[in-house]
Amino acid sequence: MPAENIFILGIESSCDDTAASVIHQGRILSNEVASQKIHESYGGVVPELASRAHQQNIVPVVHQALKKAGISKSQLSAIAFTRGPGLMGSLLVGTSFAKSLAYGLDIPLIDVDHMQAHILAHFIEDAGSKKPPFPFLALTISGGHTQIVRVDDNFKMTVIGETIDDAVGEAFDKSGKLLGLGYPAGPEMDKRAQLGNPKAYKFTKPKVDGLNFSFSGLKTAILYFVQRETKVDPDFVKNNLNDICASIQYTIVGILIDKLKLASKQTGIKHIAIGGGVSANSGIREALKQGEVKFGWTTYIPKFEFTTDNAAMIAIVGYLKYLEGHFSKQDITASARLKF
Ligand code: KG4
Ligand code: ZN
Repeated sequence: MPAENIFILGIESSCDDTAASVIHQGRILSNEVASQKIHESYGGVVPELASRAHQQNIVPVVHQALKKAGISKSQLSAIAFTRGPGLMGSLLVGTSFAKSLAYGLDIPLIDVDHMQAHILAHFIEDAGSKKPPFPFLALTISGGHTQIVRVDDNFKMTVIGETIDDAVGEAFDKSGKLLGLGYPAGPEMDKRAQLGNPKAYKFTKPKVDGLNFSFSGLKTAILYFVQRETKVDPDFVKNNLNDICASIQYTIVGILIDKLKLASKQTGIKHIAIGGGVSANSGIREALKQGEVKFGWTTYIPKFEFTTDNAAMIAIVGYLKYLEGHFSKQDITASARLKF
């Protein structure tokens, strides 16, 4: 296959989004996603329901990705898929589908680490921000992950900090749930935070050594705070919702920025790339902008469609691996706790 004519199909099914994307020479031709609304009424992702919805969605989503890209499956050079980390039942659907399709078409199969993909999404052409130069620090923040990664090369990455309990998106979602917000609560918490006073209430930041994070204590502190205040005034949450949201967001953003500052100081790296759904948060975006002025950082945030769970990020890793001849064997298995 001539190097200029490589089409890769990326498939992502690690959590509750069934996604497929076609990439041609680093440029995205299609980026389709079927999000599973069914979890909203449960206040969180239900693994069993997620696997079933993936089974329903995967063929239509792949079909749509090929159609939008304007190619037929016989033109594909390879199939890239998310091997892990994620929910096992969800991963199995994408993995089995990718293996069968690659086998049927007699083309290479490429396994992709979901966390590496969040980082390498920055190398999609037209990703919406400049490409970060090596070495850089990547902060991946979503409902499933919170990591600081030192990135020395496309495939030379070292996790230098991560959460020891909840992910930062869970901190938003779980504290939002305590306040009666719908799932996922992050976007509404953000909207309300912009209308409130971030210093109205003070929540203690967790004391965790080094570059690791912890968010479960914050959730408990908010629970006790709400219980205490509603004993005095049953309408406390309703009457002060914006200020409470602003104060929670201020605390969470502070935790993230403190660790980033430390990571930048320890490594001497000032290029900072952000990925994951929480990178949409206005507080974190503002704090990063301030970091550019205060600490001389250069920050990189791709378009939202490439920061939440998506298949374009799987396809770009597939493309980079294809160029280096990194293919998987057909007996490869999904791995819920995959680590790089
Ligand atoms: O990357 P993502 O779409 O899926 C995974 O969790 O992997 O991230 C979803 C998470 C949810 O926890 C959601 O509440 C959070 O991102 N989120 C936000 C915002 N937009 C999405 N959190 C805070 N502020 C936002 N604007
Ligand atoms: Zn993710």
